[in-house]
Amino acid sequence: MTQSSDLLLEVAGVAKSFATHGGRRIVHAVDGVDLKVARGEILGLVGESGSGKTTLGRSILRLLAPDRGTVRFDGTDVLGLSGAQMRRFRRRMQLIFQDPTSSLNPRMRVRSLVGEPLEVHGIARGSRLREQVADLLEEVGLDAGAMDLMPHEFSGGQRQRIAIARALAVRPEFVVCDEPVSSLDVSVQAQIINLLVDLQQRHGLAYLFIAHDLALVSHFCDRVVVLYLGRVMESAPKEVIRTRPTHPYSQVLYAASPVPDPKQARRRKALLPDEIPSPSDRPSGCSFHPRCRYTTDLCRREVPGLRELSRGHMVACHHAEDLLRGICEPSGAPQTHNR
Ligand SMILES: Nc1ncnc2c1ncn2[C@@H]1O[C@H](COP(=O)(O)OP(=O)(O)OP(=O)(O)O)[C@@H](O)[C@H]1O
Ligand SMILES: [Mg+2]
Repeated sequence: MTQSSDLLLEVAGVAKSFATHGGRRIVHAVDGVDLKVARGEILGLVGESGSGKTTLGRSILRLLAPDRGTVRFDGTDVLGLSGAQMRRFRRRMQLIFQDPTSSLNPRMRVRSLVGEPLEVHGIARGSRLREQVADLLEEVGLDAGAMDLMPHEFSGGQRQRIAIARALAVRPEFVVCDEPVSSLDVSVQAQIINLLVDLQQRHGLAYLFIAHDLALVSHFCDRVVVLYLGRVMESAPKEVIRTRPTHPYSQVLYAASPVPDPKQARRRKALLPDEIPSPSDRPSGCSFHPRCRYTTDLCRREVPGLRELSRGHMVACHHAEDLLRGICEPSGAPQTHNR
């Protein structure tokens, strides 16, 4: 992100919890997250299942009401908009879901699925609507003949193309892509990512791209945010993630990125042996400390704040500087000084 005028989305202190077990437990799904997205930027959001990615994405779009925090989009306080204002505003921020089979109404033809948002927002009707739907289908790599078909007549990858056409129909500026390839065969995942990146470049879109795979997103996202139990652990330009992921959690996530080789899959399990703790019973201090190789007493005691190590590289770890310099010893104090 270069100039402040490029700033499209600014999220500050967003938190969202859920009461479960009849109100006896509070799940802190997102706990005070800040992030910024520039116009035309792809920001990756990565973390294990349950880390709060979807809750954060939906809170930003106001599909969920956050408990606290602010969401500013192109200078507008999104959480302060009235219902009617929000309905008009929604055109500018869209969502692509993980599973197109459940996100597309199975009883609607493609012409209606893609055309409906254009009608709802009063963008096109009649023959103009038909033309625009045909253009959108072409943009996502489907031919106009697809218009008269139903979602079940397509493959998973094609269905995701329809969902992308539907999301982009209203020409949004920002799209939350919530694990848009996770439900697809590995063979088509790259095609859908390439399509999304191609559309992003062609239309100058900004994405919040949610995924599990840190190595994958560091190839095509401009910057990456690593989330763990609802908090940001690291935020960095993609080159930093690729060459020196610094937070111990980012390091294991990066090393554990899924690869087809079964031997590597076993290695992945060895790197992250335990399950992510429940966000209703968060560990003391640094929430990653029970799974971390570098834990010290300080980590058990105090929540580390995010510190900027270099321009745009923020890490929430007590040992961040030593880890970056490669002088942090596993399971003990760093070599340089005792903490
Ligand atoms: N409506 C809800 N009611 C209660 N708990 C919820 C609700 N939605 C989410 N949670 C809990 O909040 C936490 C974060 O969930 P969320 O779906 O945001 O994670 P995620 O990172 O998107 O995971 P995944 O990778 O599996 O999609 C989880 O512990 C989840 O069980
Ligand atoms: Mg999710």
